[in-house]
Amino acid sequence: MNPMLGFAVKAARRAGDLISRASENIDKLNIQHKTTNDLVSEVDRAAEEAIIDSLKKVYPDHAFLGEEGGQVGSSDYLWIIDPLDGTTNFLHGFPVYAVSIALSYKGQLQIGVIYDPTRNDLFTASRGEGAFLNEKRIRVSKRDRLIDALVGTGFPFRANSEVDTYAAMFKSVALKSAGIRRPGAASLDLANVAAGRLDAFWEMGLSPWDMAAGVLMITEAGGLVGDFNGDGAFMDSGEIVAGNPKIFAQLLNTIKPHIK
Ligand code: IPD
Ligand code: CA
Ligand code: CA
Repeated sequence: MNPMLGFAVKAARRAGDLISRASENIDKLNIQHKTTNDLVSEVDRAAEEAIIDSLKKVYPDHAFLGEEGGQVGSSDYLWIIDPLDGTTNFLHGFPVYAVSIALSYKGQLQIGVIYDPTRNDLFTASRGEGAFLNEKRIRVSKRDRLIDALVGTGFPFRANSEVDTYAAMFKSVALKSAGIRRPGAASLDLANVAAGRLDAFWEMGLSPWDMAAGVLMITEAGGLVGDFNGDGAFMDSGEIVAGNPKIFAQLLNTIKPHIK
């Protein structure tokens, strides 16, 4: 295993263990609202500190971009971290959440780890070396018609102005696919596209830490990722479409007419 991937896995498992322990006492957690519908708990912060602490010991000169602490340091190597993706689920005891860690070098994703502590599922990817779930190679699905496809998504719960646009997209996809799922942790949704459990995914309003590891996972599993124009600006816009190559194109054509 690529040594950097090994350290990222260690850090993700350390955060996952901390999250699992905390899940036994959710009622006692100190919770704050960042903005409407955007919660953060002491667990998010502690998990991020644990990850950065682990990685800093080995890579003291690297930079870190964490959801809770923002960017620390400046370097060609940037670790992009969502310490607890799916906080709302976690705080309700709904067991769909994950730790997501990616490494980019000069802006190009190199490593991705997504760890689901509720299932002990470890998704890993490194550039040019494929994507894996619990050390078994994963690939995107082979389904070729949107009408047969299971499509993941996330609701734009913060940007209320986007709700009408999103609702129109949702209606079209609902009518043209086999079903839509909204599990509630974008990193895991992307990992599930990589593993062929979902045929495609779309969401708007995401942040780099929600997407980075999952994007590498999907491309290494043979899938495609783009913004709502089919281009590569999803990290900046937060609008993402992903899927196996055939469903990707059909999903894009279905949501594109609704973009304002
Ligand atoms: C959220 C989850 C959710 C997505 C939101 C994200 P958080 O991340 O990934 O699925 O719909 O846009 O913000 O806040 O739980 O880390
Ligand atoms: Ca997140
Ligand atoms: Ca988070």
